[in-house]
Amino acid sequence: MDAAPMLQDAEIGFPIPPGVYAETVTEVQHYSDSLFRFRVTRDPAFRFRSGEFVMIGLPNADRPVFRAYSIASPSWDEQIEFYSIKVPDGPLTRYLQRLRVGDTVLMRRKPTGTLVNDALLPGKRLWMFATGTGIAPFASIIRDPETYEKFDEMIVCHTCRTSQELTFGRNLLNDLKNDPLVGELSPRLTLYDTLTREDWPRVGRQTDLMASGKMFSDLGVPPIDPDTDRAMICGSMAMLNDTKAALESFGLEEGANSRPATFVVEKAFVG
Ligand code: A2P
Repeated sequence: MDAAPMLQDAEIGFPIPPGVYAETVTEVQHYSDSLFRFRVTRDPAFRFRSGEFVMIGLPNADRPVFRAYSIASPSWDEQIEFYSIKVPDGPLTRYLQRLRVGDTVLMRRKPTGTLVNDALLPGKRLWMFATGTGIAPFASIIRDPETYEKFDEMIVCHTCRTSQELTFGRNLLNDLKNDPLVGELSPRLTLYDTLTREDWPRVGRQTDLMASGKMFSDLGVPPIDPDTDRAMICGSMAMLNDTKAALESFGLEEGANSRPATFVVEKAFVG
């Protein structure tokens, strides 16, 4: 039992648990029946490193359900952005998908995660491998000037089932050109998006395109080399395992905050 006092929020009706921020929704954008993004206010005391995740929940129960969400906005942004799937029976997303501007979102105060620049050794080229909503932490990382200081080139590989699911990533890359901090640097970033269940200029899983070498010839870059290339992976467990094996076959080694190396891994939020 936590001894810290519970603050009562008159408008919400449920107590706000200790150790969380109660933030206000400022924007909601739906992409499809299964995907949306939203932005919330940010407490000035909240600090995180681009690429980290936090636990979020809703003030709709005495003991709210919290789930890990990658922060999709960079660490310098005045607000916090999240990108989410909608699961009809999901313990959190069944409610989260109905968010409106002005609603309250609970956010635990402590961010964490391994998809951070600090967990990678310096290199020439940064690969960011994502499937589905696994692109969220990379939306943060590619808007952080530190990433451009550390790497000459960046490639975001995003594989989804249908073209609707690519919209978030494509909009992100388009908007990056006008970004106040990294807009001028954005030509150093390439989006390589592929589809597995619809026609598209690039079809197939990124892992297969890597194994066949087509990804490298399409991009006009040499195959992954531990001397020059670094990588971050975010997706389902199966995708993480397959991508990890592919990177290890090129000689890359998994790192962590305490021991930086040549690639890092994080499981995408799934429920
Ligand atoms: P596929 O359509 O061939 O299963 P999911 O929604 O199942 O997480 O999948 C999201 C995207 O990731 C899909 O395009 C899917 O391809 C792809 N994918 C699923 N599993 C893997 C994997 N092990 N390695 C690479 N891509 C994967």
